[in-house]
Amino acid sequence: MYLKNCWYVAAWDYELIDGKMLARTILNENVLLYRGASGEVIALNNRCPHRGALLSEGRREGDGVRCMYHGIKYDQGGRCVQIPGQDMIPPKLRTRKYPIVESARLIWIWMGDPAHADRTLIPEYAPLHDPKWRGTPAYLHYDANYLLIVDNLSDFSHLAFVHTNTLGGSEEYAYVTKPVVVERQPRGFRVERWHMNSEAPPFHKKVIRDKDARVDRRNHVIMLIPGIFYMETMFTPAGQGAEKGNTQNAREYRNCQYMTPETDRTTHFFWSYLNNFEGSDPTISQSLLDSLIEGFMEDKAIIERQQKTLDADPAFESQMLAILADAPLAHFRRALSKLIEAEQGAPAIVAAATKVPSLA
Ligand code: FES
Ligand SMILES: [Fe+2]
Repeated sequence: MYLKNCWYVAAWDYELIDGKMLARTILNENVLLYRGASGEVIALNNRCPHRGALLSEGRREGDGVRCMYHGIKYDQGGRCVQIPGQDMIPPKLRTRKYPIVESARLIWIWMGDPAHADRTLIPEYAPLHDPKWRGTPAYLHYDANYLLIVDNLSDFSHLAFVHTNTLGGSEEYAYVTKPVVVERQPRGFRVERWHMNSEAPPFHKKVIRDKDARVDRRNHVIMLIPGIFYMETMFTPAGQGAEKGNTQNAREYRNCQYMTPETDRTTHFFWSYLNNFEGSDPTISQSLLDSLIEGFMEDKAIIERQQKTLDADPAFESQMLAILADAPLAHFRRALSKLIEAEQGAPAIVAAATKVPSLA
């Protein structure tokens, strides 16, 4: 069950270079993405309505695509415009076209009713539009349901244990820090967490000069339905009063992560980790990219194993026991279930939603 009437990230623009015909399953639907001759990004259902050959194995012609089984051609709207050897074109011979918006290198897709595809509903992330923030867009594929990744990002105490030697720095992070803000929102949540007077975590140490200086660290995250994560991170010299607004000599990062369901058990994971201090030294972005990949591989190993555990005993999902730190993830799942229920008008979903442990 997915929320359909919302924007999902389908790809980064770099995935569509050189005339690439990208076959990508999104919400269990097989979609073809490509950039047409006009420059517009086009998304069509990837199945040729004639006999089911894959259009991604076809040939791009202008803004359209020709199926390379029997040569039927479709335009950018998915309408059949040519059948070799046949003049009459049945109006029903068409494949579904999905609304697309390209913005800040992201290709957004609307999987629901096209009549509701309002581009102002895209949760634009300002740093992606601002050249002062530098970073490298990246993609990872997960063999796990997207909500397990949302869960992971909902509780940063995992930084201490999963990412001790990469993004976290020490187990202390889980013991001595607590969220100072946990704000439930109608379409997500906001959490703010400080770690005062600590050693800099390894990923940050790699890109700063004074590696032994103690730091105050702020993580401020926003998670939005259907699975969009934005994070501000700030490191300041320890004890200068950053929590009261003294952000002198701060080193800052901005991070976006987009979880798009591929299937019920797999996820497309798009992200970019941005900094504002690299100046003319692109090795900083490169170092951060490498560190983040290293860190995300640690998440991926745990989450994919977790998915296997859940698959082996599906009843366990409703028996999982909550701790206080699960409040944001529990709220997120409840809010999402409500929206899906409203969209589908299916009372059964309400019953499923009440199984989520409540800590409110
Ligand atoms: S299956 Fe595509 S033209 Fe026949
Ligand atoms: Fe993580």
